[in-house]
Amino acid sequence: MTIHPITILGEPVLHRRAAEVQAFDDDLRLLIADMHETVDAANGVGLAAPQIGVGLRIYVYNFANDDGVPDRGVLVNPTLLLSKVPGTDPDPEEEVEGCLSVPGDHFPLKRAEFARVSGFDGFGQPVQFEATGWFARVMQHEYDHLDGKLYVDRLIDRWARKAKRSRKEHGWGVPGLTWLPGTDPDPFGH
Ligand code: NI
Repeated sequence: MTIHPITILGEPVLHRRAAEVQAFDDDLRLLIADMHETVDAANGVGLAAPQIGVGLRIYVYNFANDDGVPDRGVLVNPTLLLSKVPGTDPDPEEEVEGCLSVPGDHFPLKRAEFARVSGFDGFGQPVQFEATGWFARVMQHEYDHLDGKLYVDRLIDRWARKAKRSRKEHGWGVPGLTWLPGTDPDPFGH
């Protein structure tokens, strides 16, 4: 298995809709294994295929949850049904999100409290569960990646401005930037 470089904000594959997986074959399962290895090396809780430069509708997660769902898993061709996202301001301490493709940054964002998640595993077997709280947040964040959306695209007001400033300071927003988990310093200091 291989740890893959993680694409950074500006890489085109992160900003367009990923394609449905057509074949549940050994190549897919190898890709999924690589994604698990990469997210572990990055100390992340989730990773979507576009984050390793692959424009397919796949994400993995590694998140201990209270919903009776295995801590580690994969969703291929997923769909999400969400409760309403509250229109209130996000809590700047309790609702702070980060992304391996926006390395080192954290910003607060409101998410739905509940997600009904459906999809397939690497063998084409159906997967279905309900996620709440932070686990639901992880599902929403990873699913967004498959639609070419980053959490920083959803920020409001001063958080959106701060994210824009950080992007400028880092020189992100151009193609070709990556970082390599396990080799480059952990951008989140884990
Ligand atoms: Ni992310």
